[in-house]
Amino acid sequence: GKGNYRHFMEKELHEHPVVIGETLRQYVEPATRAVALPPLPFDPAAVPRLTVTACGSAFLAGLVGRYWIEGLARIPVEADIASELRYRDPPLAEGGAALLVSQSGETADTLAALRLLKAGGQRTLAVVNVDESSMARESDARLLTVAGPEIGVASTKAFTAQLSVLASLAIGFARARGRLAPEEEARLTAALLELPGHAAALLEDGRTIQALAQEVAPARDVLFLGRGNLYPIALEGALKLKEISYIHAEGYAAGEMKHGPIALIDPAVPVIALCPSGPLFEKTASNLQEAAARGGRVMAFTDAEGAPALRRFAERVIELPRVDPFVAPILHAIPVQLLAYHVAVLKGTDVDQPRNLAKSVTVE
Ligand code: F6R
Repeated sequence: GKGNYRHFMEKELHEHPVVIGETLRQYVEPATRAVALPPLPFDPAAVPRLTVTACGSAFLAGLVGRYWIEGLARIPVEADIASELRYRDPPLAEGGAALLVSQSGETADTLAALRLLKAGGQRTLAVVNVDESSMARESDARLLTVAGPEIGVASTKAFTAQLSVLASLAIGFARARGRLAPEEEARLTAALLELPGHAAALLEDGRTIQALAQEVAPARDVLFLGRGNLYPIALEGALKLKEISYIHAEGYAAGEMKHGPIALIDPAVPVIALCPSGPLFEKTASNLQEAAARGGRVMAFTDAEGAPALRRFAERVIELPRVDPFVAPILHAIPVQLLAYHVAVLKGTDVDQPRNLAKSVTVE
């Protein structure tokens, strides 16, 4: 049941800390802080190329995975939505491997892509939440997300669980390829293991996001901006807001603004920015400043280090805990999902059963 929560989605949002912790426990040794992966169907030290495919939010988790795996392990990664990948007949690398990401393990397009990739000689690894699912059975190996059943149609805790697995994989691949010193690995896993605590603190203080939701609920259009591994989280924020509040939202890479979307900037279009301190901070902040200079109402998620610079022009600055940039996508996923939830509650939509949507899409 829903317990004391109003909706399954609210209950599931509050499970982020436990789910991230339980999933990491499968793949990170707490004592040594080393990633320990089960046997894989390919050798990460030798694989020439990976294909990541999925649908919806699971695909957005896969996109973050691409940033992590390419950045840390230096394996070329192709990422595409399953409904495109399966019909565009992509050339597949000899000896290549594929990652399929799915909560249900039954999504028709992702399952068809799995079959196509297998037939094309790729070794397949499924990141799934349901162990008896078709994808778990048909892939060469599966890694489980430990999210428990997800009832709300909009994916929440399964998404951060997918990210937790993909981050562990990126670290494991990097080590296998001799690209990660043990101290560096311990630093990254420590940053991951701190996330459940940070997530719990974020969820405890519900008022900040509720206040932001009051600003966003009257809007007809909303922009979400981020760079690097936070760009897919901007897409996730926009997807979730569309899906459950029926407000039109777009996620953009912040650097792409001046190539078109900046024309939308108007006081009626809130700009939600993901802008933590780190190597991309200055670039993102300057894109946001341009939006503010054109009358945009910038509402930024950052940390204590980034806040002073953003306060000079942003209407709202929300400080999240300061984390290693590697884990920032997992942390930022939580407030953007919470925001969508609170906006939907204000709008009175059917949060757990949004119109026209099904939990598991078993037809293409
Ligand atoms: C968005 C959402 C969907 C799913 C997508 C894939 O909130 O829930 O976009 O992520 O339908 O579903 P699975 O992960 O079951 O393959």
